[in-house]
Amino acid sequence: MKKAWWKESVVYQIYPRSFKDSNGDGIGDLNGITGKLDYLKELGIDVIWLSPVYQSPNDDNGYDISDYRAIMEEFGTMEDYDRMLSEAHQRGIKIVMDLVVNHTSDEHHWFVESRKSKDNPYRDYYIWREGKNGKEPNNWGSCFSGPAWQYDETTEMYYLHLFSKKQPDLNWDNPKVRQEVFDMMNWWLDKGVDGFRMDVISLISKDPSFPDGVPGINGYASFNEPANGPHVHEYLQEMRRKVLDGRETLTVGECSGVTLEEAKKYARSDGRELNMVFQFEHMDVDADGANKWSDKKMDLRDLKEVLSRWQKGLQDVAWNSLFWENHDQPRSVSRFGEDGEYRELSAKMLATCLHMMQGTPYIYQGEELGMTNVPFRDIEDFRDLDSINAYHELVGQGVFTEAEMMKYLRYKSRDNARTPFQWNAERNAGFTEGTPWIMVNPNYREINAEEQMAREDSVFHYYQKLIRLRKEQEIIVYGTYDLLLPDDRELYVYTRALGAEKLLVACNFYGGTRTLPLPEGWCAQKMEVMIGNYEDAAAAEEICLRPYEAVVFRMRGEER
Ligand code: GLC
Ligand code: CA
Repeated sequence: MKKAWWKESVVYQIYPRSFKDSNGDGIGDLNGITGKLDYLKELGIDVIWLSPVYQSPNDDNGYDISDYRAIMEEFGTMEDYDRMLSEAHQRGIKIVMDLVVNHTSDEHHWFVESRKSKDNPYRDYYIWREGKNGKEPNNWGSCFSGPAWQYDETTEMYYLHLFSKKQPDLNWDNPKVRQEVFDMMNWWLDKGVDGFRMDVISLISKDPSFPDGVPGINGYASFNEPANGPHVHEYLQEMRRKVLDGRETLTVGECSGVTLEEAKKYARSDGRELNMVFQFEHMDVDADGANKWSDKKMDLRDLKEVLSRWQKGLQDVAWNSLFWENHDQPRSVSRFGEDGEYRELSAKMLATCLHMMQGTPYIYQGEELGMTNVPFRDIEDFRDLDSINAYHELVGQGVFTEAEMMKYLRYKSRDNARTPFQWNAERNAGFTEGTPWIMVNPNYREINAEEQMAREDSVFHYYQKLIRLRKEQEIIVYGTYDLLLPDDRELYVYTRALGAEKLLVACNFYGGTRTLPLPEGWCAQKMEVMIGNYEDAAAAEEICLRPYEAVVFRMRGEER
C-alpha cells in the first residue's frame, strides 16, 4: 500500500466558538486556540481541522460565510490567524481549513448582487428557478426544516438553499463560480494552510431536472437528494488540477449521502480527487429509518456491518476516515458507550475500537476527555438552528409532543457537542471569564482537562497512548482488517495483519462480563497486550472481557 503522511496522522477538530475564550466575551477565539496549542502537542495530534473562522453573520455558526478572505470579528483578526498558524507550525502541527463552498451566506456580496435582478452579472452564481403552480420548484427539503427553496420578491423567483435560507447554494455549473473557489483556495494555501475539510462537498452538483424525492416525516424530501450529482467528480478533478496538484495537502470531503461505490471515486488512491471522505452510514445506526430524531439505541451488529463493509471496501483502493464525533453529532460516550458508572471505561473502549481500524482517526474536542451529552433543561437552552427549527416544526405539525422532542434533542442535538470545552473545575469550566454563549455542561467539576492531565489512568492519557502507538506500529496504519463474530450483539472483535504480525482487537460494548474463546491461529503464549482499558488484561485460552473492556493483543507469526 502506498504510504502517505496523512494516512499516518491523527486529526483533532476544533470548534473555535467553544474551545477557549481569550478576551472574556464568552465566545471562543483564535488567540484562545493559540494559547492551547501546547495542550494539543501534549496530546500528540498532528493536524488541526479548524471549523470555519471566516467572516459570517453566524446563522449557522460560521457555516454561512460572507467573506472567504476575512476572519470573523468575534474570533479575532487576520494577524491573530497568522500567529496561530505559525505557532502551530512551529510545534509541527498542521492546520486544515473548513471549506464551505456548497453555499455562501446570503450576506456574501455575490448573493447581494445576484438577487438584485435577473440580468445581474452574479445572477448565475446561484440557483434560481421559477415556481411551479405557485409553489416551490420541487419538494426538496432544507436540512434545517421547511422547503429548500425561498421565494424572493425582487425578481419573483425561488433560490435553492439545502441548508438555511441564509445559506443559498452556489451554482457550480457556472465556471466563474468554480474559478472563484479555486482562487480562494490557492490564496489560503499560499498563506501556508495544509489542506481542507470540504463541507457537504457531495452536494455541489445538482441534477438540472430537479426531480422530486421521497417525502420524509415533515413532508419534504431529504436535503441529501442531490448527493453525488452528475458532475461532482469532474469538478473535484478540476479542483485537483487547478489547486491541489503539486502541493502537500490533506483533503477530506464531508460526503453526506455517499455510498461505498461513490467513495471509491472521491477518495481514489490514484489521487485525482480527495485523500478521503467522511461517510455517515455508521451515524445512522440509531436513526429511526430516515428520521434522525429518535432515542433508539443501536444494534451493535449494524454498527459492525457498516464499519466492516467500509474497512474492507476501501482497502487498497481508497482511504477511510475514522470518527465517532464531530460538531454535528452528539457525544459518543453517551450514544455508543455509557456515560454513568462506566463513562471512562466506555470512552476508552470506543477510542480503542476506532483508533485500531484502518484509516485516519479524527478526534473531536472534548472526546479525549470523555465529555458527555448535556442535560439541557428546555428549548431555550439550545442555540443550534437545526435543533430549534426541528423542535418547532415537528411539535407544530403534531409529529412529536414537546416532551418527546426534548428527549430526542437531549439525545441527538448538535448542541451536545458544542458546549464549552471543559478546561478545569473553575467557573465556566475555565472556558471564559464572561458569560458563555451556550451553557456549560454542569459536570465540568468532575470532567475536565486539568484533572485528567494530572491523572495517569485518565481518558486523556489513554488517547495519548493510542496516538503514540500509531506512530510506533505500522500495522495500526497499514494492516488489513478482518471482522470476527459478526453476529455477536455485545462484542466487537476484529484482527489486523501486516507481514508476520497480527493484532487482535476485542471490545465489549456492554456492562456485562463475556468470554471470548481464542480465535483460530492465535496462541496465548505468544500474545502480548499492546493496550487495554483495564490494568491486568492477559491472554488465555478464553479471554475474559469485563464491562466495557477493550484490549489489543499483538502476536508475531512465523516469518513467511
Ligand atoms: C455541514 C456542517 C454543518 C453545517 C452544514 C451546512 O454538514 O458540518 O455543521 O450546518 O454542513 O454548512
Ligand atoms: Ca472571545
